[in-house]
Amino acid sequence: MFVTKVGLVRALLLALVITAAVVSAHPGEAPPTPQNIVEGKLYRRSAQAQYKRCNGSRQSLQRRHAVNTQVHRRQKLLEQLRRARTAQRRSDSGYASEVLETSHVSNRTDITSNSTTSAVFANSTDACVLQPEVTIGPYWVSGELLRSNLTDDQPGVPLYLDAQFVNINTCEPVTDLYWEIWNCNSTGVYSGVVASGNGNMEDESNLNATFLRGIQRTDENGAAQFQTIFPGHYTGRAHHIHVVAHINATVLPNSTLANSANTGAVHIGQLFFDQDLISQVEASSPYSSNTQNITTNAEDSIFAQEADSEGSDPVLEYVLLGDKIEDGVFAWTSIAVDVDAKYNTSAAAAYTKDGGVANEQSLNGMGDGAPGGLAPSK
Ligand SMILES: *[C@@H]1O[C@H](CO)[C@@H](O)[C@H](O)[C@H]1NC(C)=O
Ligand SMILES: *[C@@H]1O[C@H](CO)[C@@H](O)[C@H](O)[C@H]1NC(C)=O
Ligand SMILES: *[C@@H]1O[C@H](CO)[C@@H](O)[C@H](O)[C@H]1NC(C)=O
Ligand SMILES: *[C@@H]1O[C@H](CO)[C@@H](O)[C@H](O)[C@H]1NC(C)=O
Ligand SMILES: *[C@@H]1O[C@H](CO)[C@@H](O)[C@H](O)[C@H]1NC(C)=O
Ligand SMILES: *[C@@H]1O[C@H](CO)[C@@H](O)[C@H](O)[C@H]1NC(C)=O
Ligand SMILES: *[C@@H]1O[C@H](CO)[C@@H](O)[C@H](O)[C@H]1NC(C)=O
Ligand SMILES: *[C@@H]1O[C@H](CO)[C@@H](O)[C@H](O)[C@H]1NC(C)=O
Ligand SMILES: *[C@@H]1O[C@H](CO)[C@@H](O)[C@H](O)[C@H]1NC(C)=O
Ligand SMILES: *[C@@H]1O[C@H](CO)[C@@H](O)[C@H](O)[C@H]1NC(C)=O
Ligand SMILES: *[C@@H]1O[C@H](CO)[C@@H](O)[C@H](O)[C@H]1NC(C)=O
Repeated sequence: MFVTKVGLVRALLLALVITAAVVSAHPGEAPPTPQNIVEGKLYRRSAQAQYKRCNGSRQSLQRRHAVNTQVHRRQKLLEQLRRARTAQRRSDSGYASEVLETSHVSNRTDITSNSTTSAVFANSTDACVLQPEVTIGPYWVSGELLRSNLTDDQPGVPLYLDAQFVNINTCEPVTDLYWEIWNCNSTGVYSGVVASGNGNMEDESNLNATFLRGIQRTDENGAAQFQTIFPGHYTGRAHHIHVVAHINATVLPNSTLANSANTGAVHIGQLFFDQDLISQVEASSPYSSNTQNITTNAEDSIFAQEADSEGSDPVLEYVLLGDKIEDGVFAWTSIAVDVDAKYNTSAAAAYTKDGGVANEQSLNGMGDGAPGGLAPSK
């Protein structure tokens, strides 16, 4: 077990934020100096850059309000630190390479498959950094079900996935956000879509399948949880999980979101895993039966887009739930979003009461099913 670099930087940042508040309350004390800060990911270029301290409790929310009143003071400090950090940067190889070099394995010993979101995020000190928007890809399906267990009997490494959403402008949790995810199965096939490049095109029954797709509403901590399986891979892409965040959604009696195909999203993103974790999963069955070549995070252009913004980190923190990878993985992250944004979603198909219905318009022009799709637009 070891301390991750990001974890260390986050801890330092937390110390800075607290210090900033304390400094203001005690004007006699000297502010921390840039020399106190080790090299790391501290900033976003955006003028909106602010930092949060996540603690699920009311107490800490109030404390964060107090911290927010120190924004001006803090921004001055952060600006000072930003300059120091730039000067100290040893490498000009970009933010994504910092993320690639960071291990996201956690030293937490309190996580089990039964851990609740409030326990997972209880002492979270993640930075409040806007997650970059990336392509929705060719295989989003509208009309999916609100449910926590997405497994639908798919074989693979169990994945317990938690995320906490925060508002980039206030650094407060975003409650009542509908977090949607989808990923391919252990042999690289997405449910709900019949297309060249997505498994067996002759198998029309896949249009009705919903495996590894679903939606959950965030709770009072801005957090939600899924049980799914660790994604496999397909040609040209690193292992990833797609994310769409919907707000102001209406839930229908059949546990779907009203008009989900035509409602803008406040975030469209993708989540990734450490390469050494992927290697462990890929060595296990049935992942090992997949003959498509693996694309690593370092080779994946969408990984670079998600990670190559100062402070953003699309890689999930995780613990293994047992001695062997087959026992499962518990993974989590914080995702900061702009709740006033509106990004276009484009669906490959719709899941309806009559089963899956392909969106021919979307699938035409998708070529060989290679990753692509419409770029999100604000
Ligand atoms: C785990 O790592 C954090 C920093 O990321 C550190 O503060 C903490 O002491 C470590 N805990 C254990 C039990 O090693
Ligand atoms: C987080 O909240 C709990 C109460 O749920 C509190 O006991 C704890 O001190 C808080 N942690 C921090 C680091 O403030
Ligand atoms: C999770 O909860 C179930 C039901 O209470 C229990 O049977 C199981 O042992 C628990 N698992 C862990 C790892 O605590
Ligand atoms: C959270 O912080 C509290 C107070 O420091 C501590 O008692 C508790 O063990 C921590 N929980 C986790 C999950 O680290
Ligand atoms: C999730 O559903 C699968 C069946 O698809 C089942 O085997 C598994 O036990 C369920 N997981 C949990 C945590 O309930
Ligand atoms: C992945 O999904 C496809 C489409 O349903 C299926 O043919 C394939 O067998 C699945 N992979 C595994 C390992 O079950
Ligand atoms: C959500 O609803 C609030 C309150 O009606 C509104 O201010 C906001 O613009 C809406 N956001 C989106 C993305 O529709
Ligand atoms: C997989 O990679 C190897 C080595 O780079 C290459 O020779 C082979 O053509 C690739 N296979 C596919 C299906 O792309
Ligand atoms: C859910 O209800 C809506 C509205 O009646 C309908 O359009 C949709 O097809 C239904 N979806 C499913 C999966 O039953
Ligand atoms: C999909 O499900 C619908 C509704 O249950 C059914 O009518 C249809 O035959 C199914 N299609 C396939 C290809 O299995
Ligand atoms: C987003 O969707 C709106 C409404 O359909 C459309 O007018 C706009 O052109 C779309 N933007 C992009 C970049 O596709």
